[in-house]
Amino acid sequence: MHVDVLEHPVVAAQLTELRDAATDRRRFRQLLHQVARALVFDAARTIPTTPVTVESPMGPANGVELVDQPVLIPILRAGLGMLDAGLEALPGSETGFLGLRRDEETLQPTVYMNTIPALEGRPVHVLDPMLATGGSAIYAAEQVQAAGAGTVTLICLLAAPEGIEALRASGSVDRLVTASIDSHLNEVGFIVPGLGDAGDRQYGVD
Ligand code: PRP
Repeated sequence: MHVDVLEHPVVAAQLTELRDAATDRRRFRQLLHQVARALVFDAARTIPTTPVTVESPMGPANGVELVDQPVLIPILRAGLGMLDAGLEALPGSETGFLGLRRDEETLQPTVYMNTIPALEGRPVHVLDPMLATGGSAIYAAEQVQAAGAGTVTLICLLAAPEGIEALRASGSVDRLVTASIDSHLNEVGFIVPGLGDAGDRQYGVD
């Protein structure tokens, strides 16, 4: 599994504000969208293109068109806040939704929604702000593999080292794109220093 950590001063400053417990819900959603947009652009670096020519006001201009745009799979709830950023960058992408809730005792994900389409070898970008134990991401990656995915990229704002190791061991994800590898997980499976619960901070307590 290839791991890309996006290092950029603007993203680092946005992430700092996201971590701040004093950041309110409206601003938190806005910042999450902004960081997600940077990550989605970075992840899209490997998308193939085909040459096209358009007519600029000054005459013919050679350019490119995206081909083989990835299917976007946000993991609800928290990943929903990354979807608009994904669709802004990749407007031709299809979207499948996966609803997962992590059991607070066992930390195992339970599924309450799955609209992953038949993937037929297409690349997939899974969107979830947090990679903690890795249970949710591994479950999602296994579902997209079972649906016939080509390469699988996980895009998350924060990753715990424990989650990265679990993901690597699972062999289910080809590439991880993140804005930060944090210190560790605490005794109840939260990322430290992290930013708290990304679902609750966007939408309220579930
Ligand atoms: C959080 C988070 C990830 C998952 C990460 O979601 O958004 O999906 O936990 O934990 P893991 O790596 O240990 O599986 P949660 O289950 O709290 O649901 P929510 O998005 O509805 O808040």
